[in-house]
Amino acid sequence: MNWKAFLMIGLILTAFTATSALAIEGGNARKGKHLFKKSCKSCHDSGGEGGELTPMSKTMSQWDRYFKKKTDDHPGEVFKTISDKDKKDINQFLHDSAADSPAPATCG
Ligand code: HEC
Repeated sequence: MNWKAFLMIGLILTAFTATSALAIEGGNARKGKHLFKKSCKSCHDSGGEGGELTPMSKTMSQWDRYFKKKTDDHPGEVFKTISDKDKKDINQFLHDSAADSPAPATCG
């Protein structure tokens, strides 16, 4: 292997590490809280058709798993109408206030 190939591989690995770190901490929880109230609470308030849902309904890893794998199974169109960025912000808010987080919270 010549030094150029070696350098390329190094660069690629660095880029990968940087983006995967961002993927976990990339959302804006403050915006996510607003978006959650706006886009989710209509159905997920107490007595709502989706059942009451607050950040404390799940643990941090349950929220992350839901947003990574299960939003396609969510009934209706809501997850198809919000952007990836908004989805990430909502995920961040729910994660940061989850049942096992340092600061568990209901939605207020
Ligand atoms: C149009 C109504 C509606 C909206 C808006 C809505 N949901 Fe739902 N949601 C539902 C229904 C209905 C279910 C299925 C409930 C069931 O199976 O008991 C559900 C299920 C869920 C579940 C699984 C519940 C569980 O206990 O695991 C999650 C998580 C969820 N929704 C999150 C969200 C988030 C986050 C948003 C906002 C981006 C949202 N929902 C917006 C109607 C809605």
